[in-house]
Amino acid sequence: MKFQPIRVAVLVSGGGTNLQAILDYEKDGKLTDGEIKLVISSKAGVKALERAENYEVKNAVVERKGKTQEEFEQGIIELLEENQIEVIVLAGFMCILSKNFTDRYVERIINVHPSLIPSFCGEGFYGLKVHEKALEYGVKVTGATVHFVNEIPDGGKIIMQKAVKIKKGDTPLSLQKRVMEEAEWQILPQALNQVCQTIRKEK
Ligand code: GAR
Repeated sequence: MKFQPIRVAVLVSGGGTNLQAILDYEKDGKLTDGEIKLVISSKAGVKALERAENYEVKNAVVERKGKTQEEFEQGIIELLEENQIEVIVLAGFMCILSKNFTDRYVERIINVHPSLIPSFCGEGFYGLKVHEKALEYGVKVTGATVHFVNEIPDGGKIIMQKAVKIKKGDTPLSLQKRVMEEAEWQILPQALNQVCQTIRKEK
């Protein structure tokens, strides 16, 4: 009998290139143990929603703006429950989740961060800023990390990492692009499948 794939939601806030990498991985038949059932954006009108539409994945907006943390998280929880979501991927999701939220989904939320944790991570380190700080410090190697999400920003258990070398003349933008291409878009879908596989075996 064919098993039921793990039901996955992806939370986004912007461009959604990491979401795209997951959708492509699924389309190529490599997401063997999961299925992308829902995309939730914290902002309306972003490119990530267009990507979900193009792949005919159910999508919704829960605006962060104008809500308390509790109201915002409640809006997300309702959608996750309605869609029986088992695993949540934060893919360029630029909002902090409270302990109240993360405690509901212990080792069920994964995040991709554009550095080798524990370097250049935690509160205030997101997007281009991470690469600016890495270049400013002068590290020779950076990369990306996929980790479980708990109440500490970028503080959960590491699932997968990949290193990327800094090149002479790198700018925050060139480095961001290379870290995405060489690391994030590869390890995020792989780590997701690995987590789905583990959950499926535990079921
Ligand atoms: C990615 O580089 C992701 O790792 C980073 O934001 C970018 C989003 O791009 N996330 C963080 O910095 C979280 N701390 P995307 O929307 O194209 O996937």
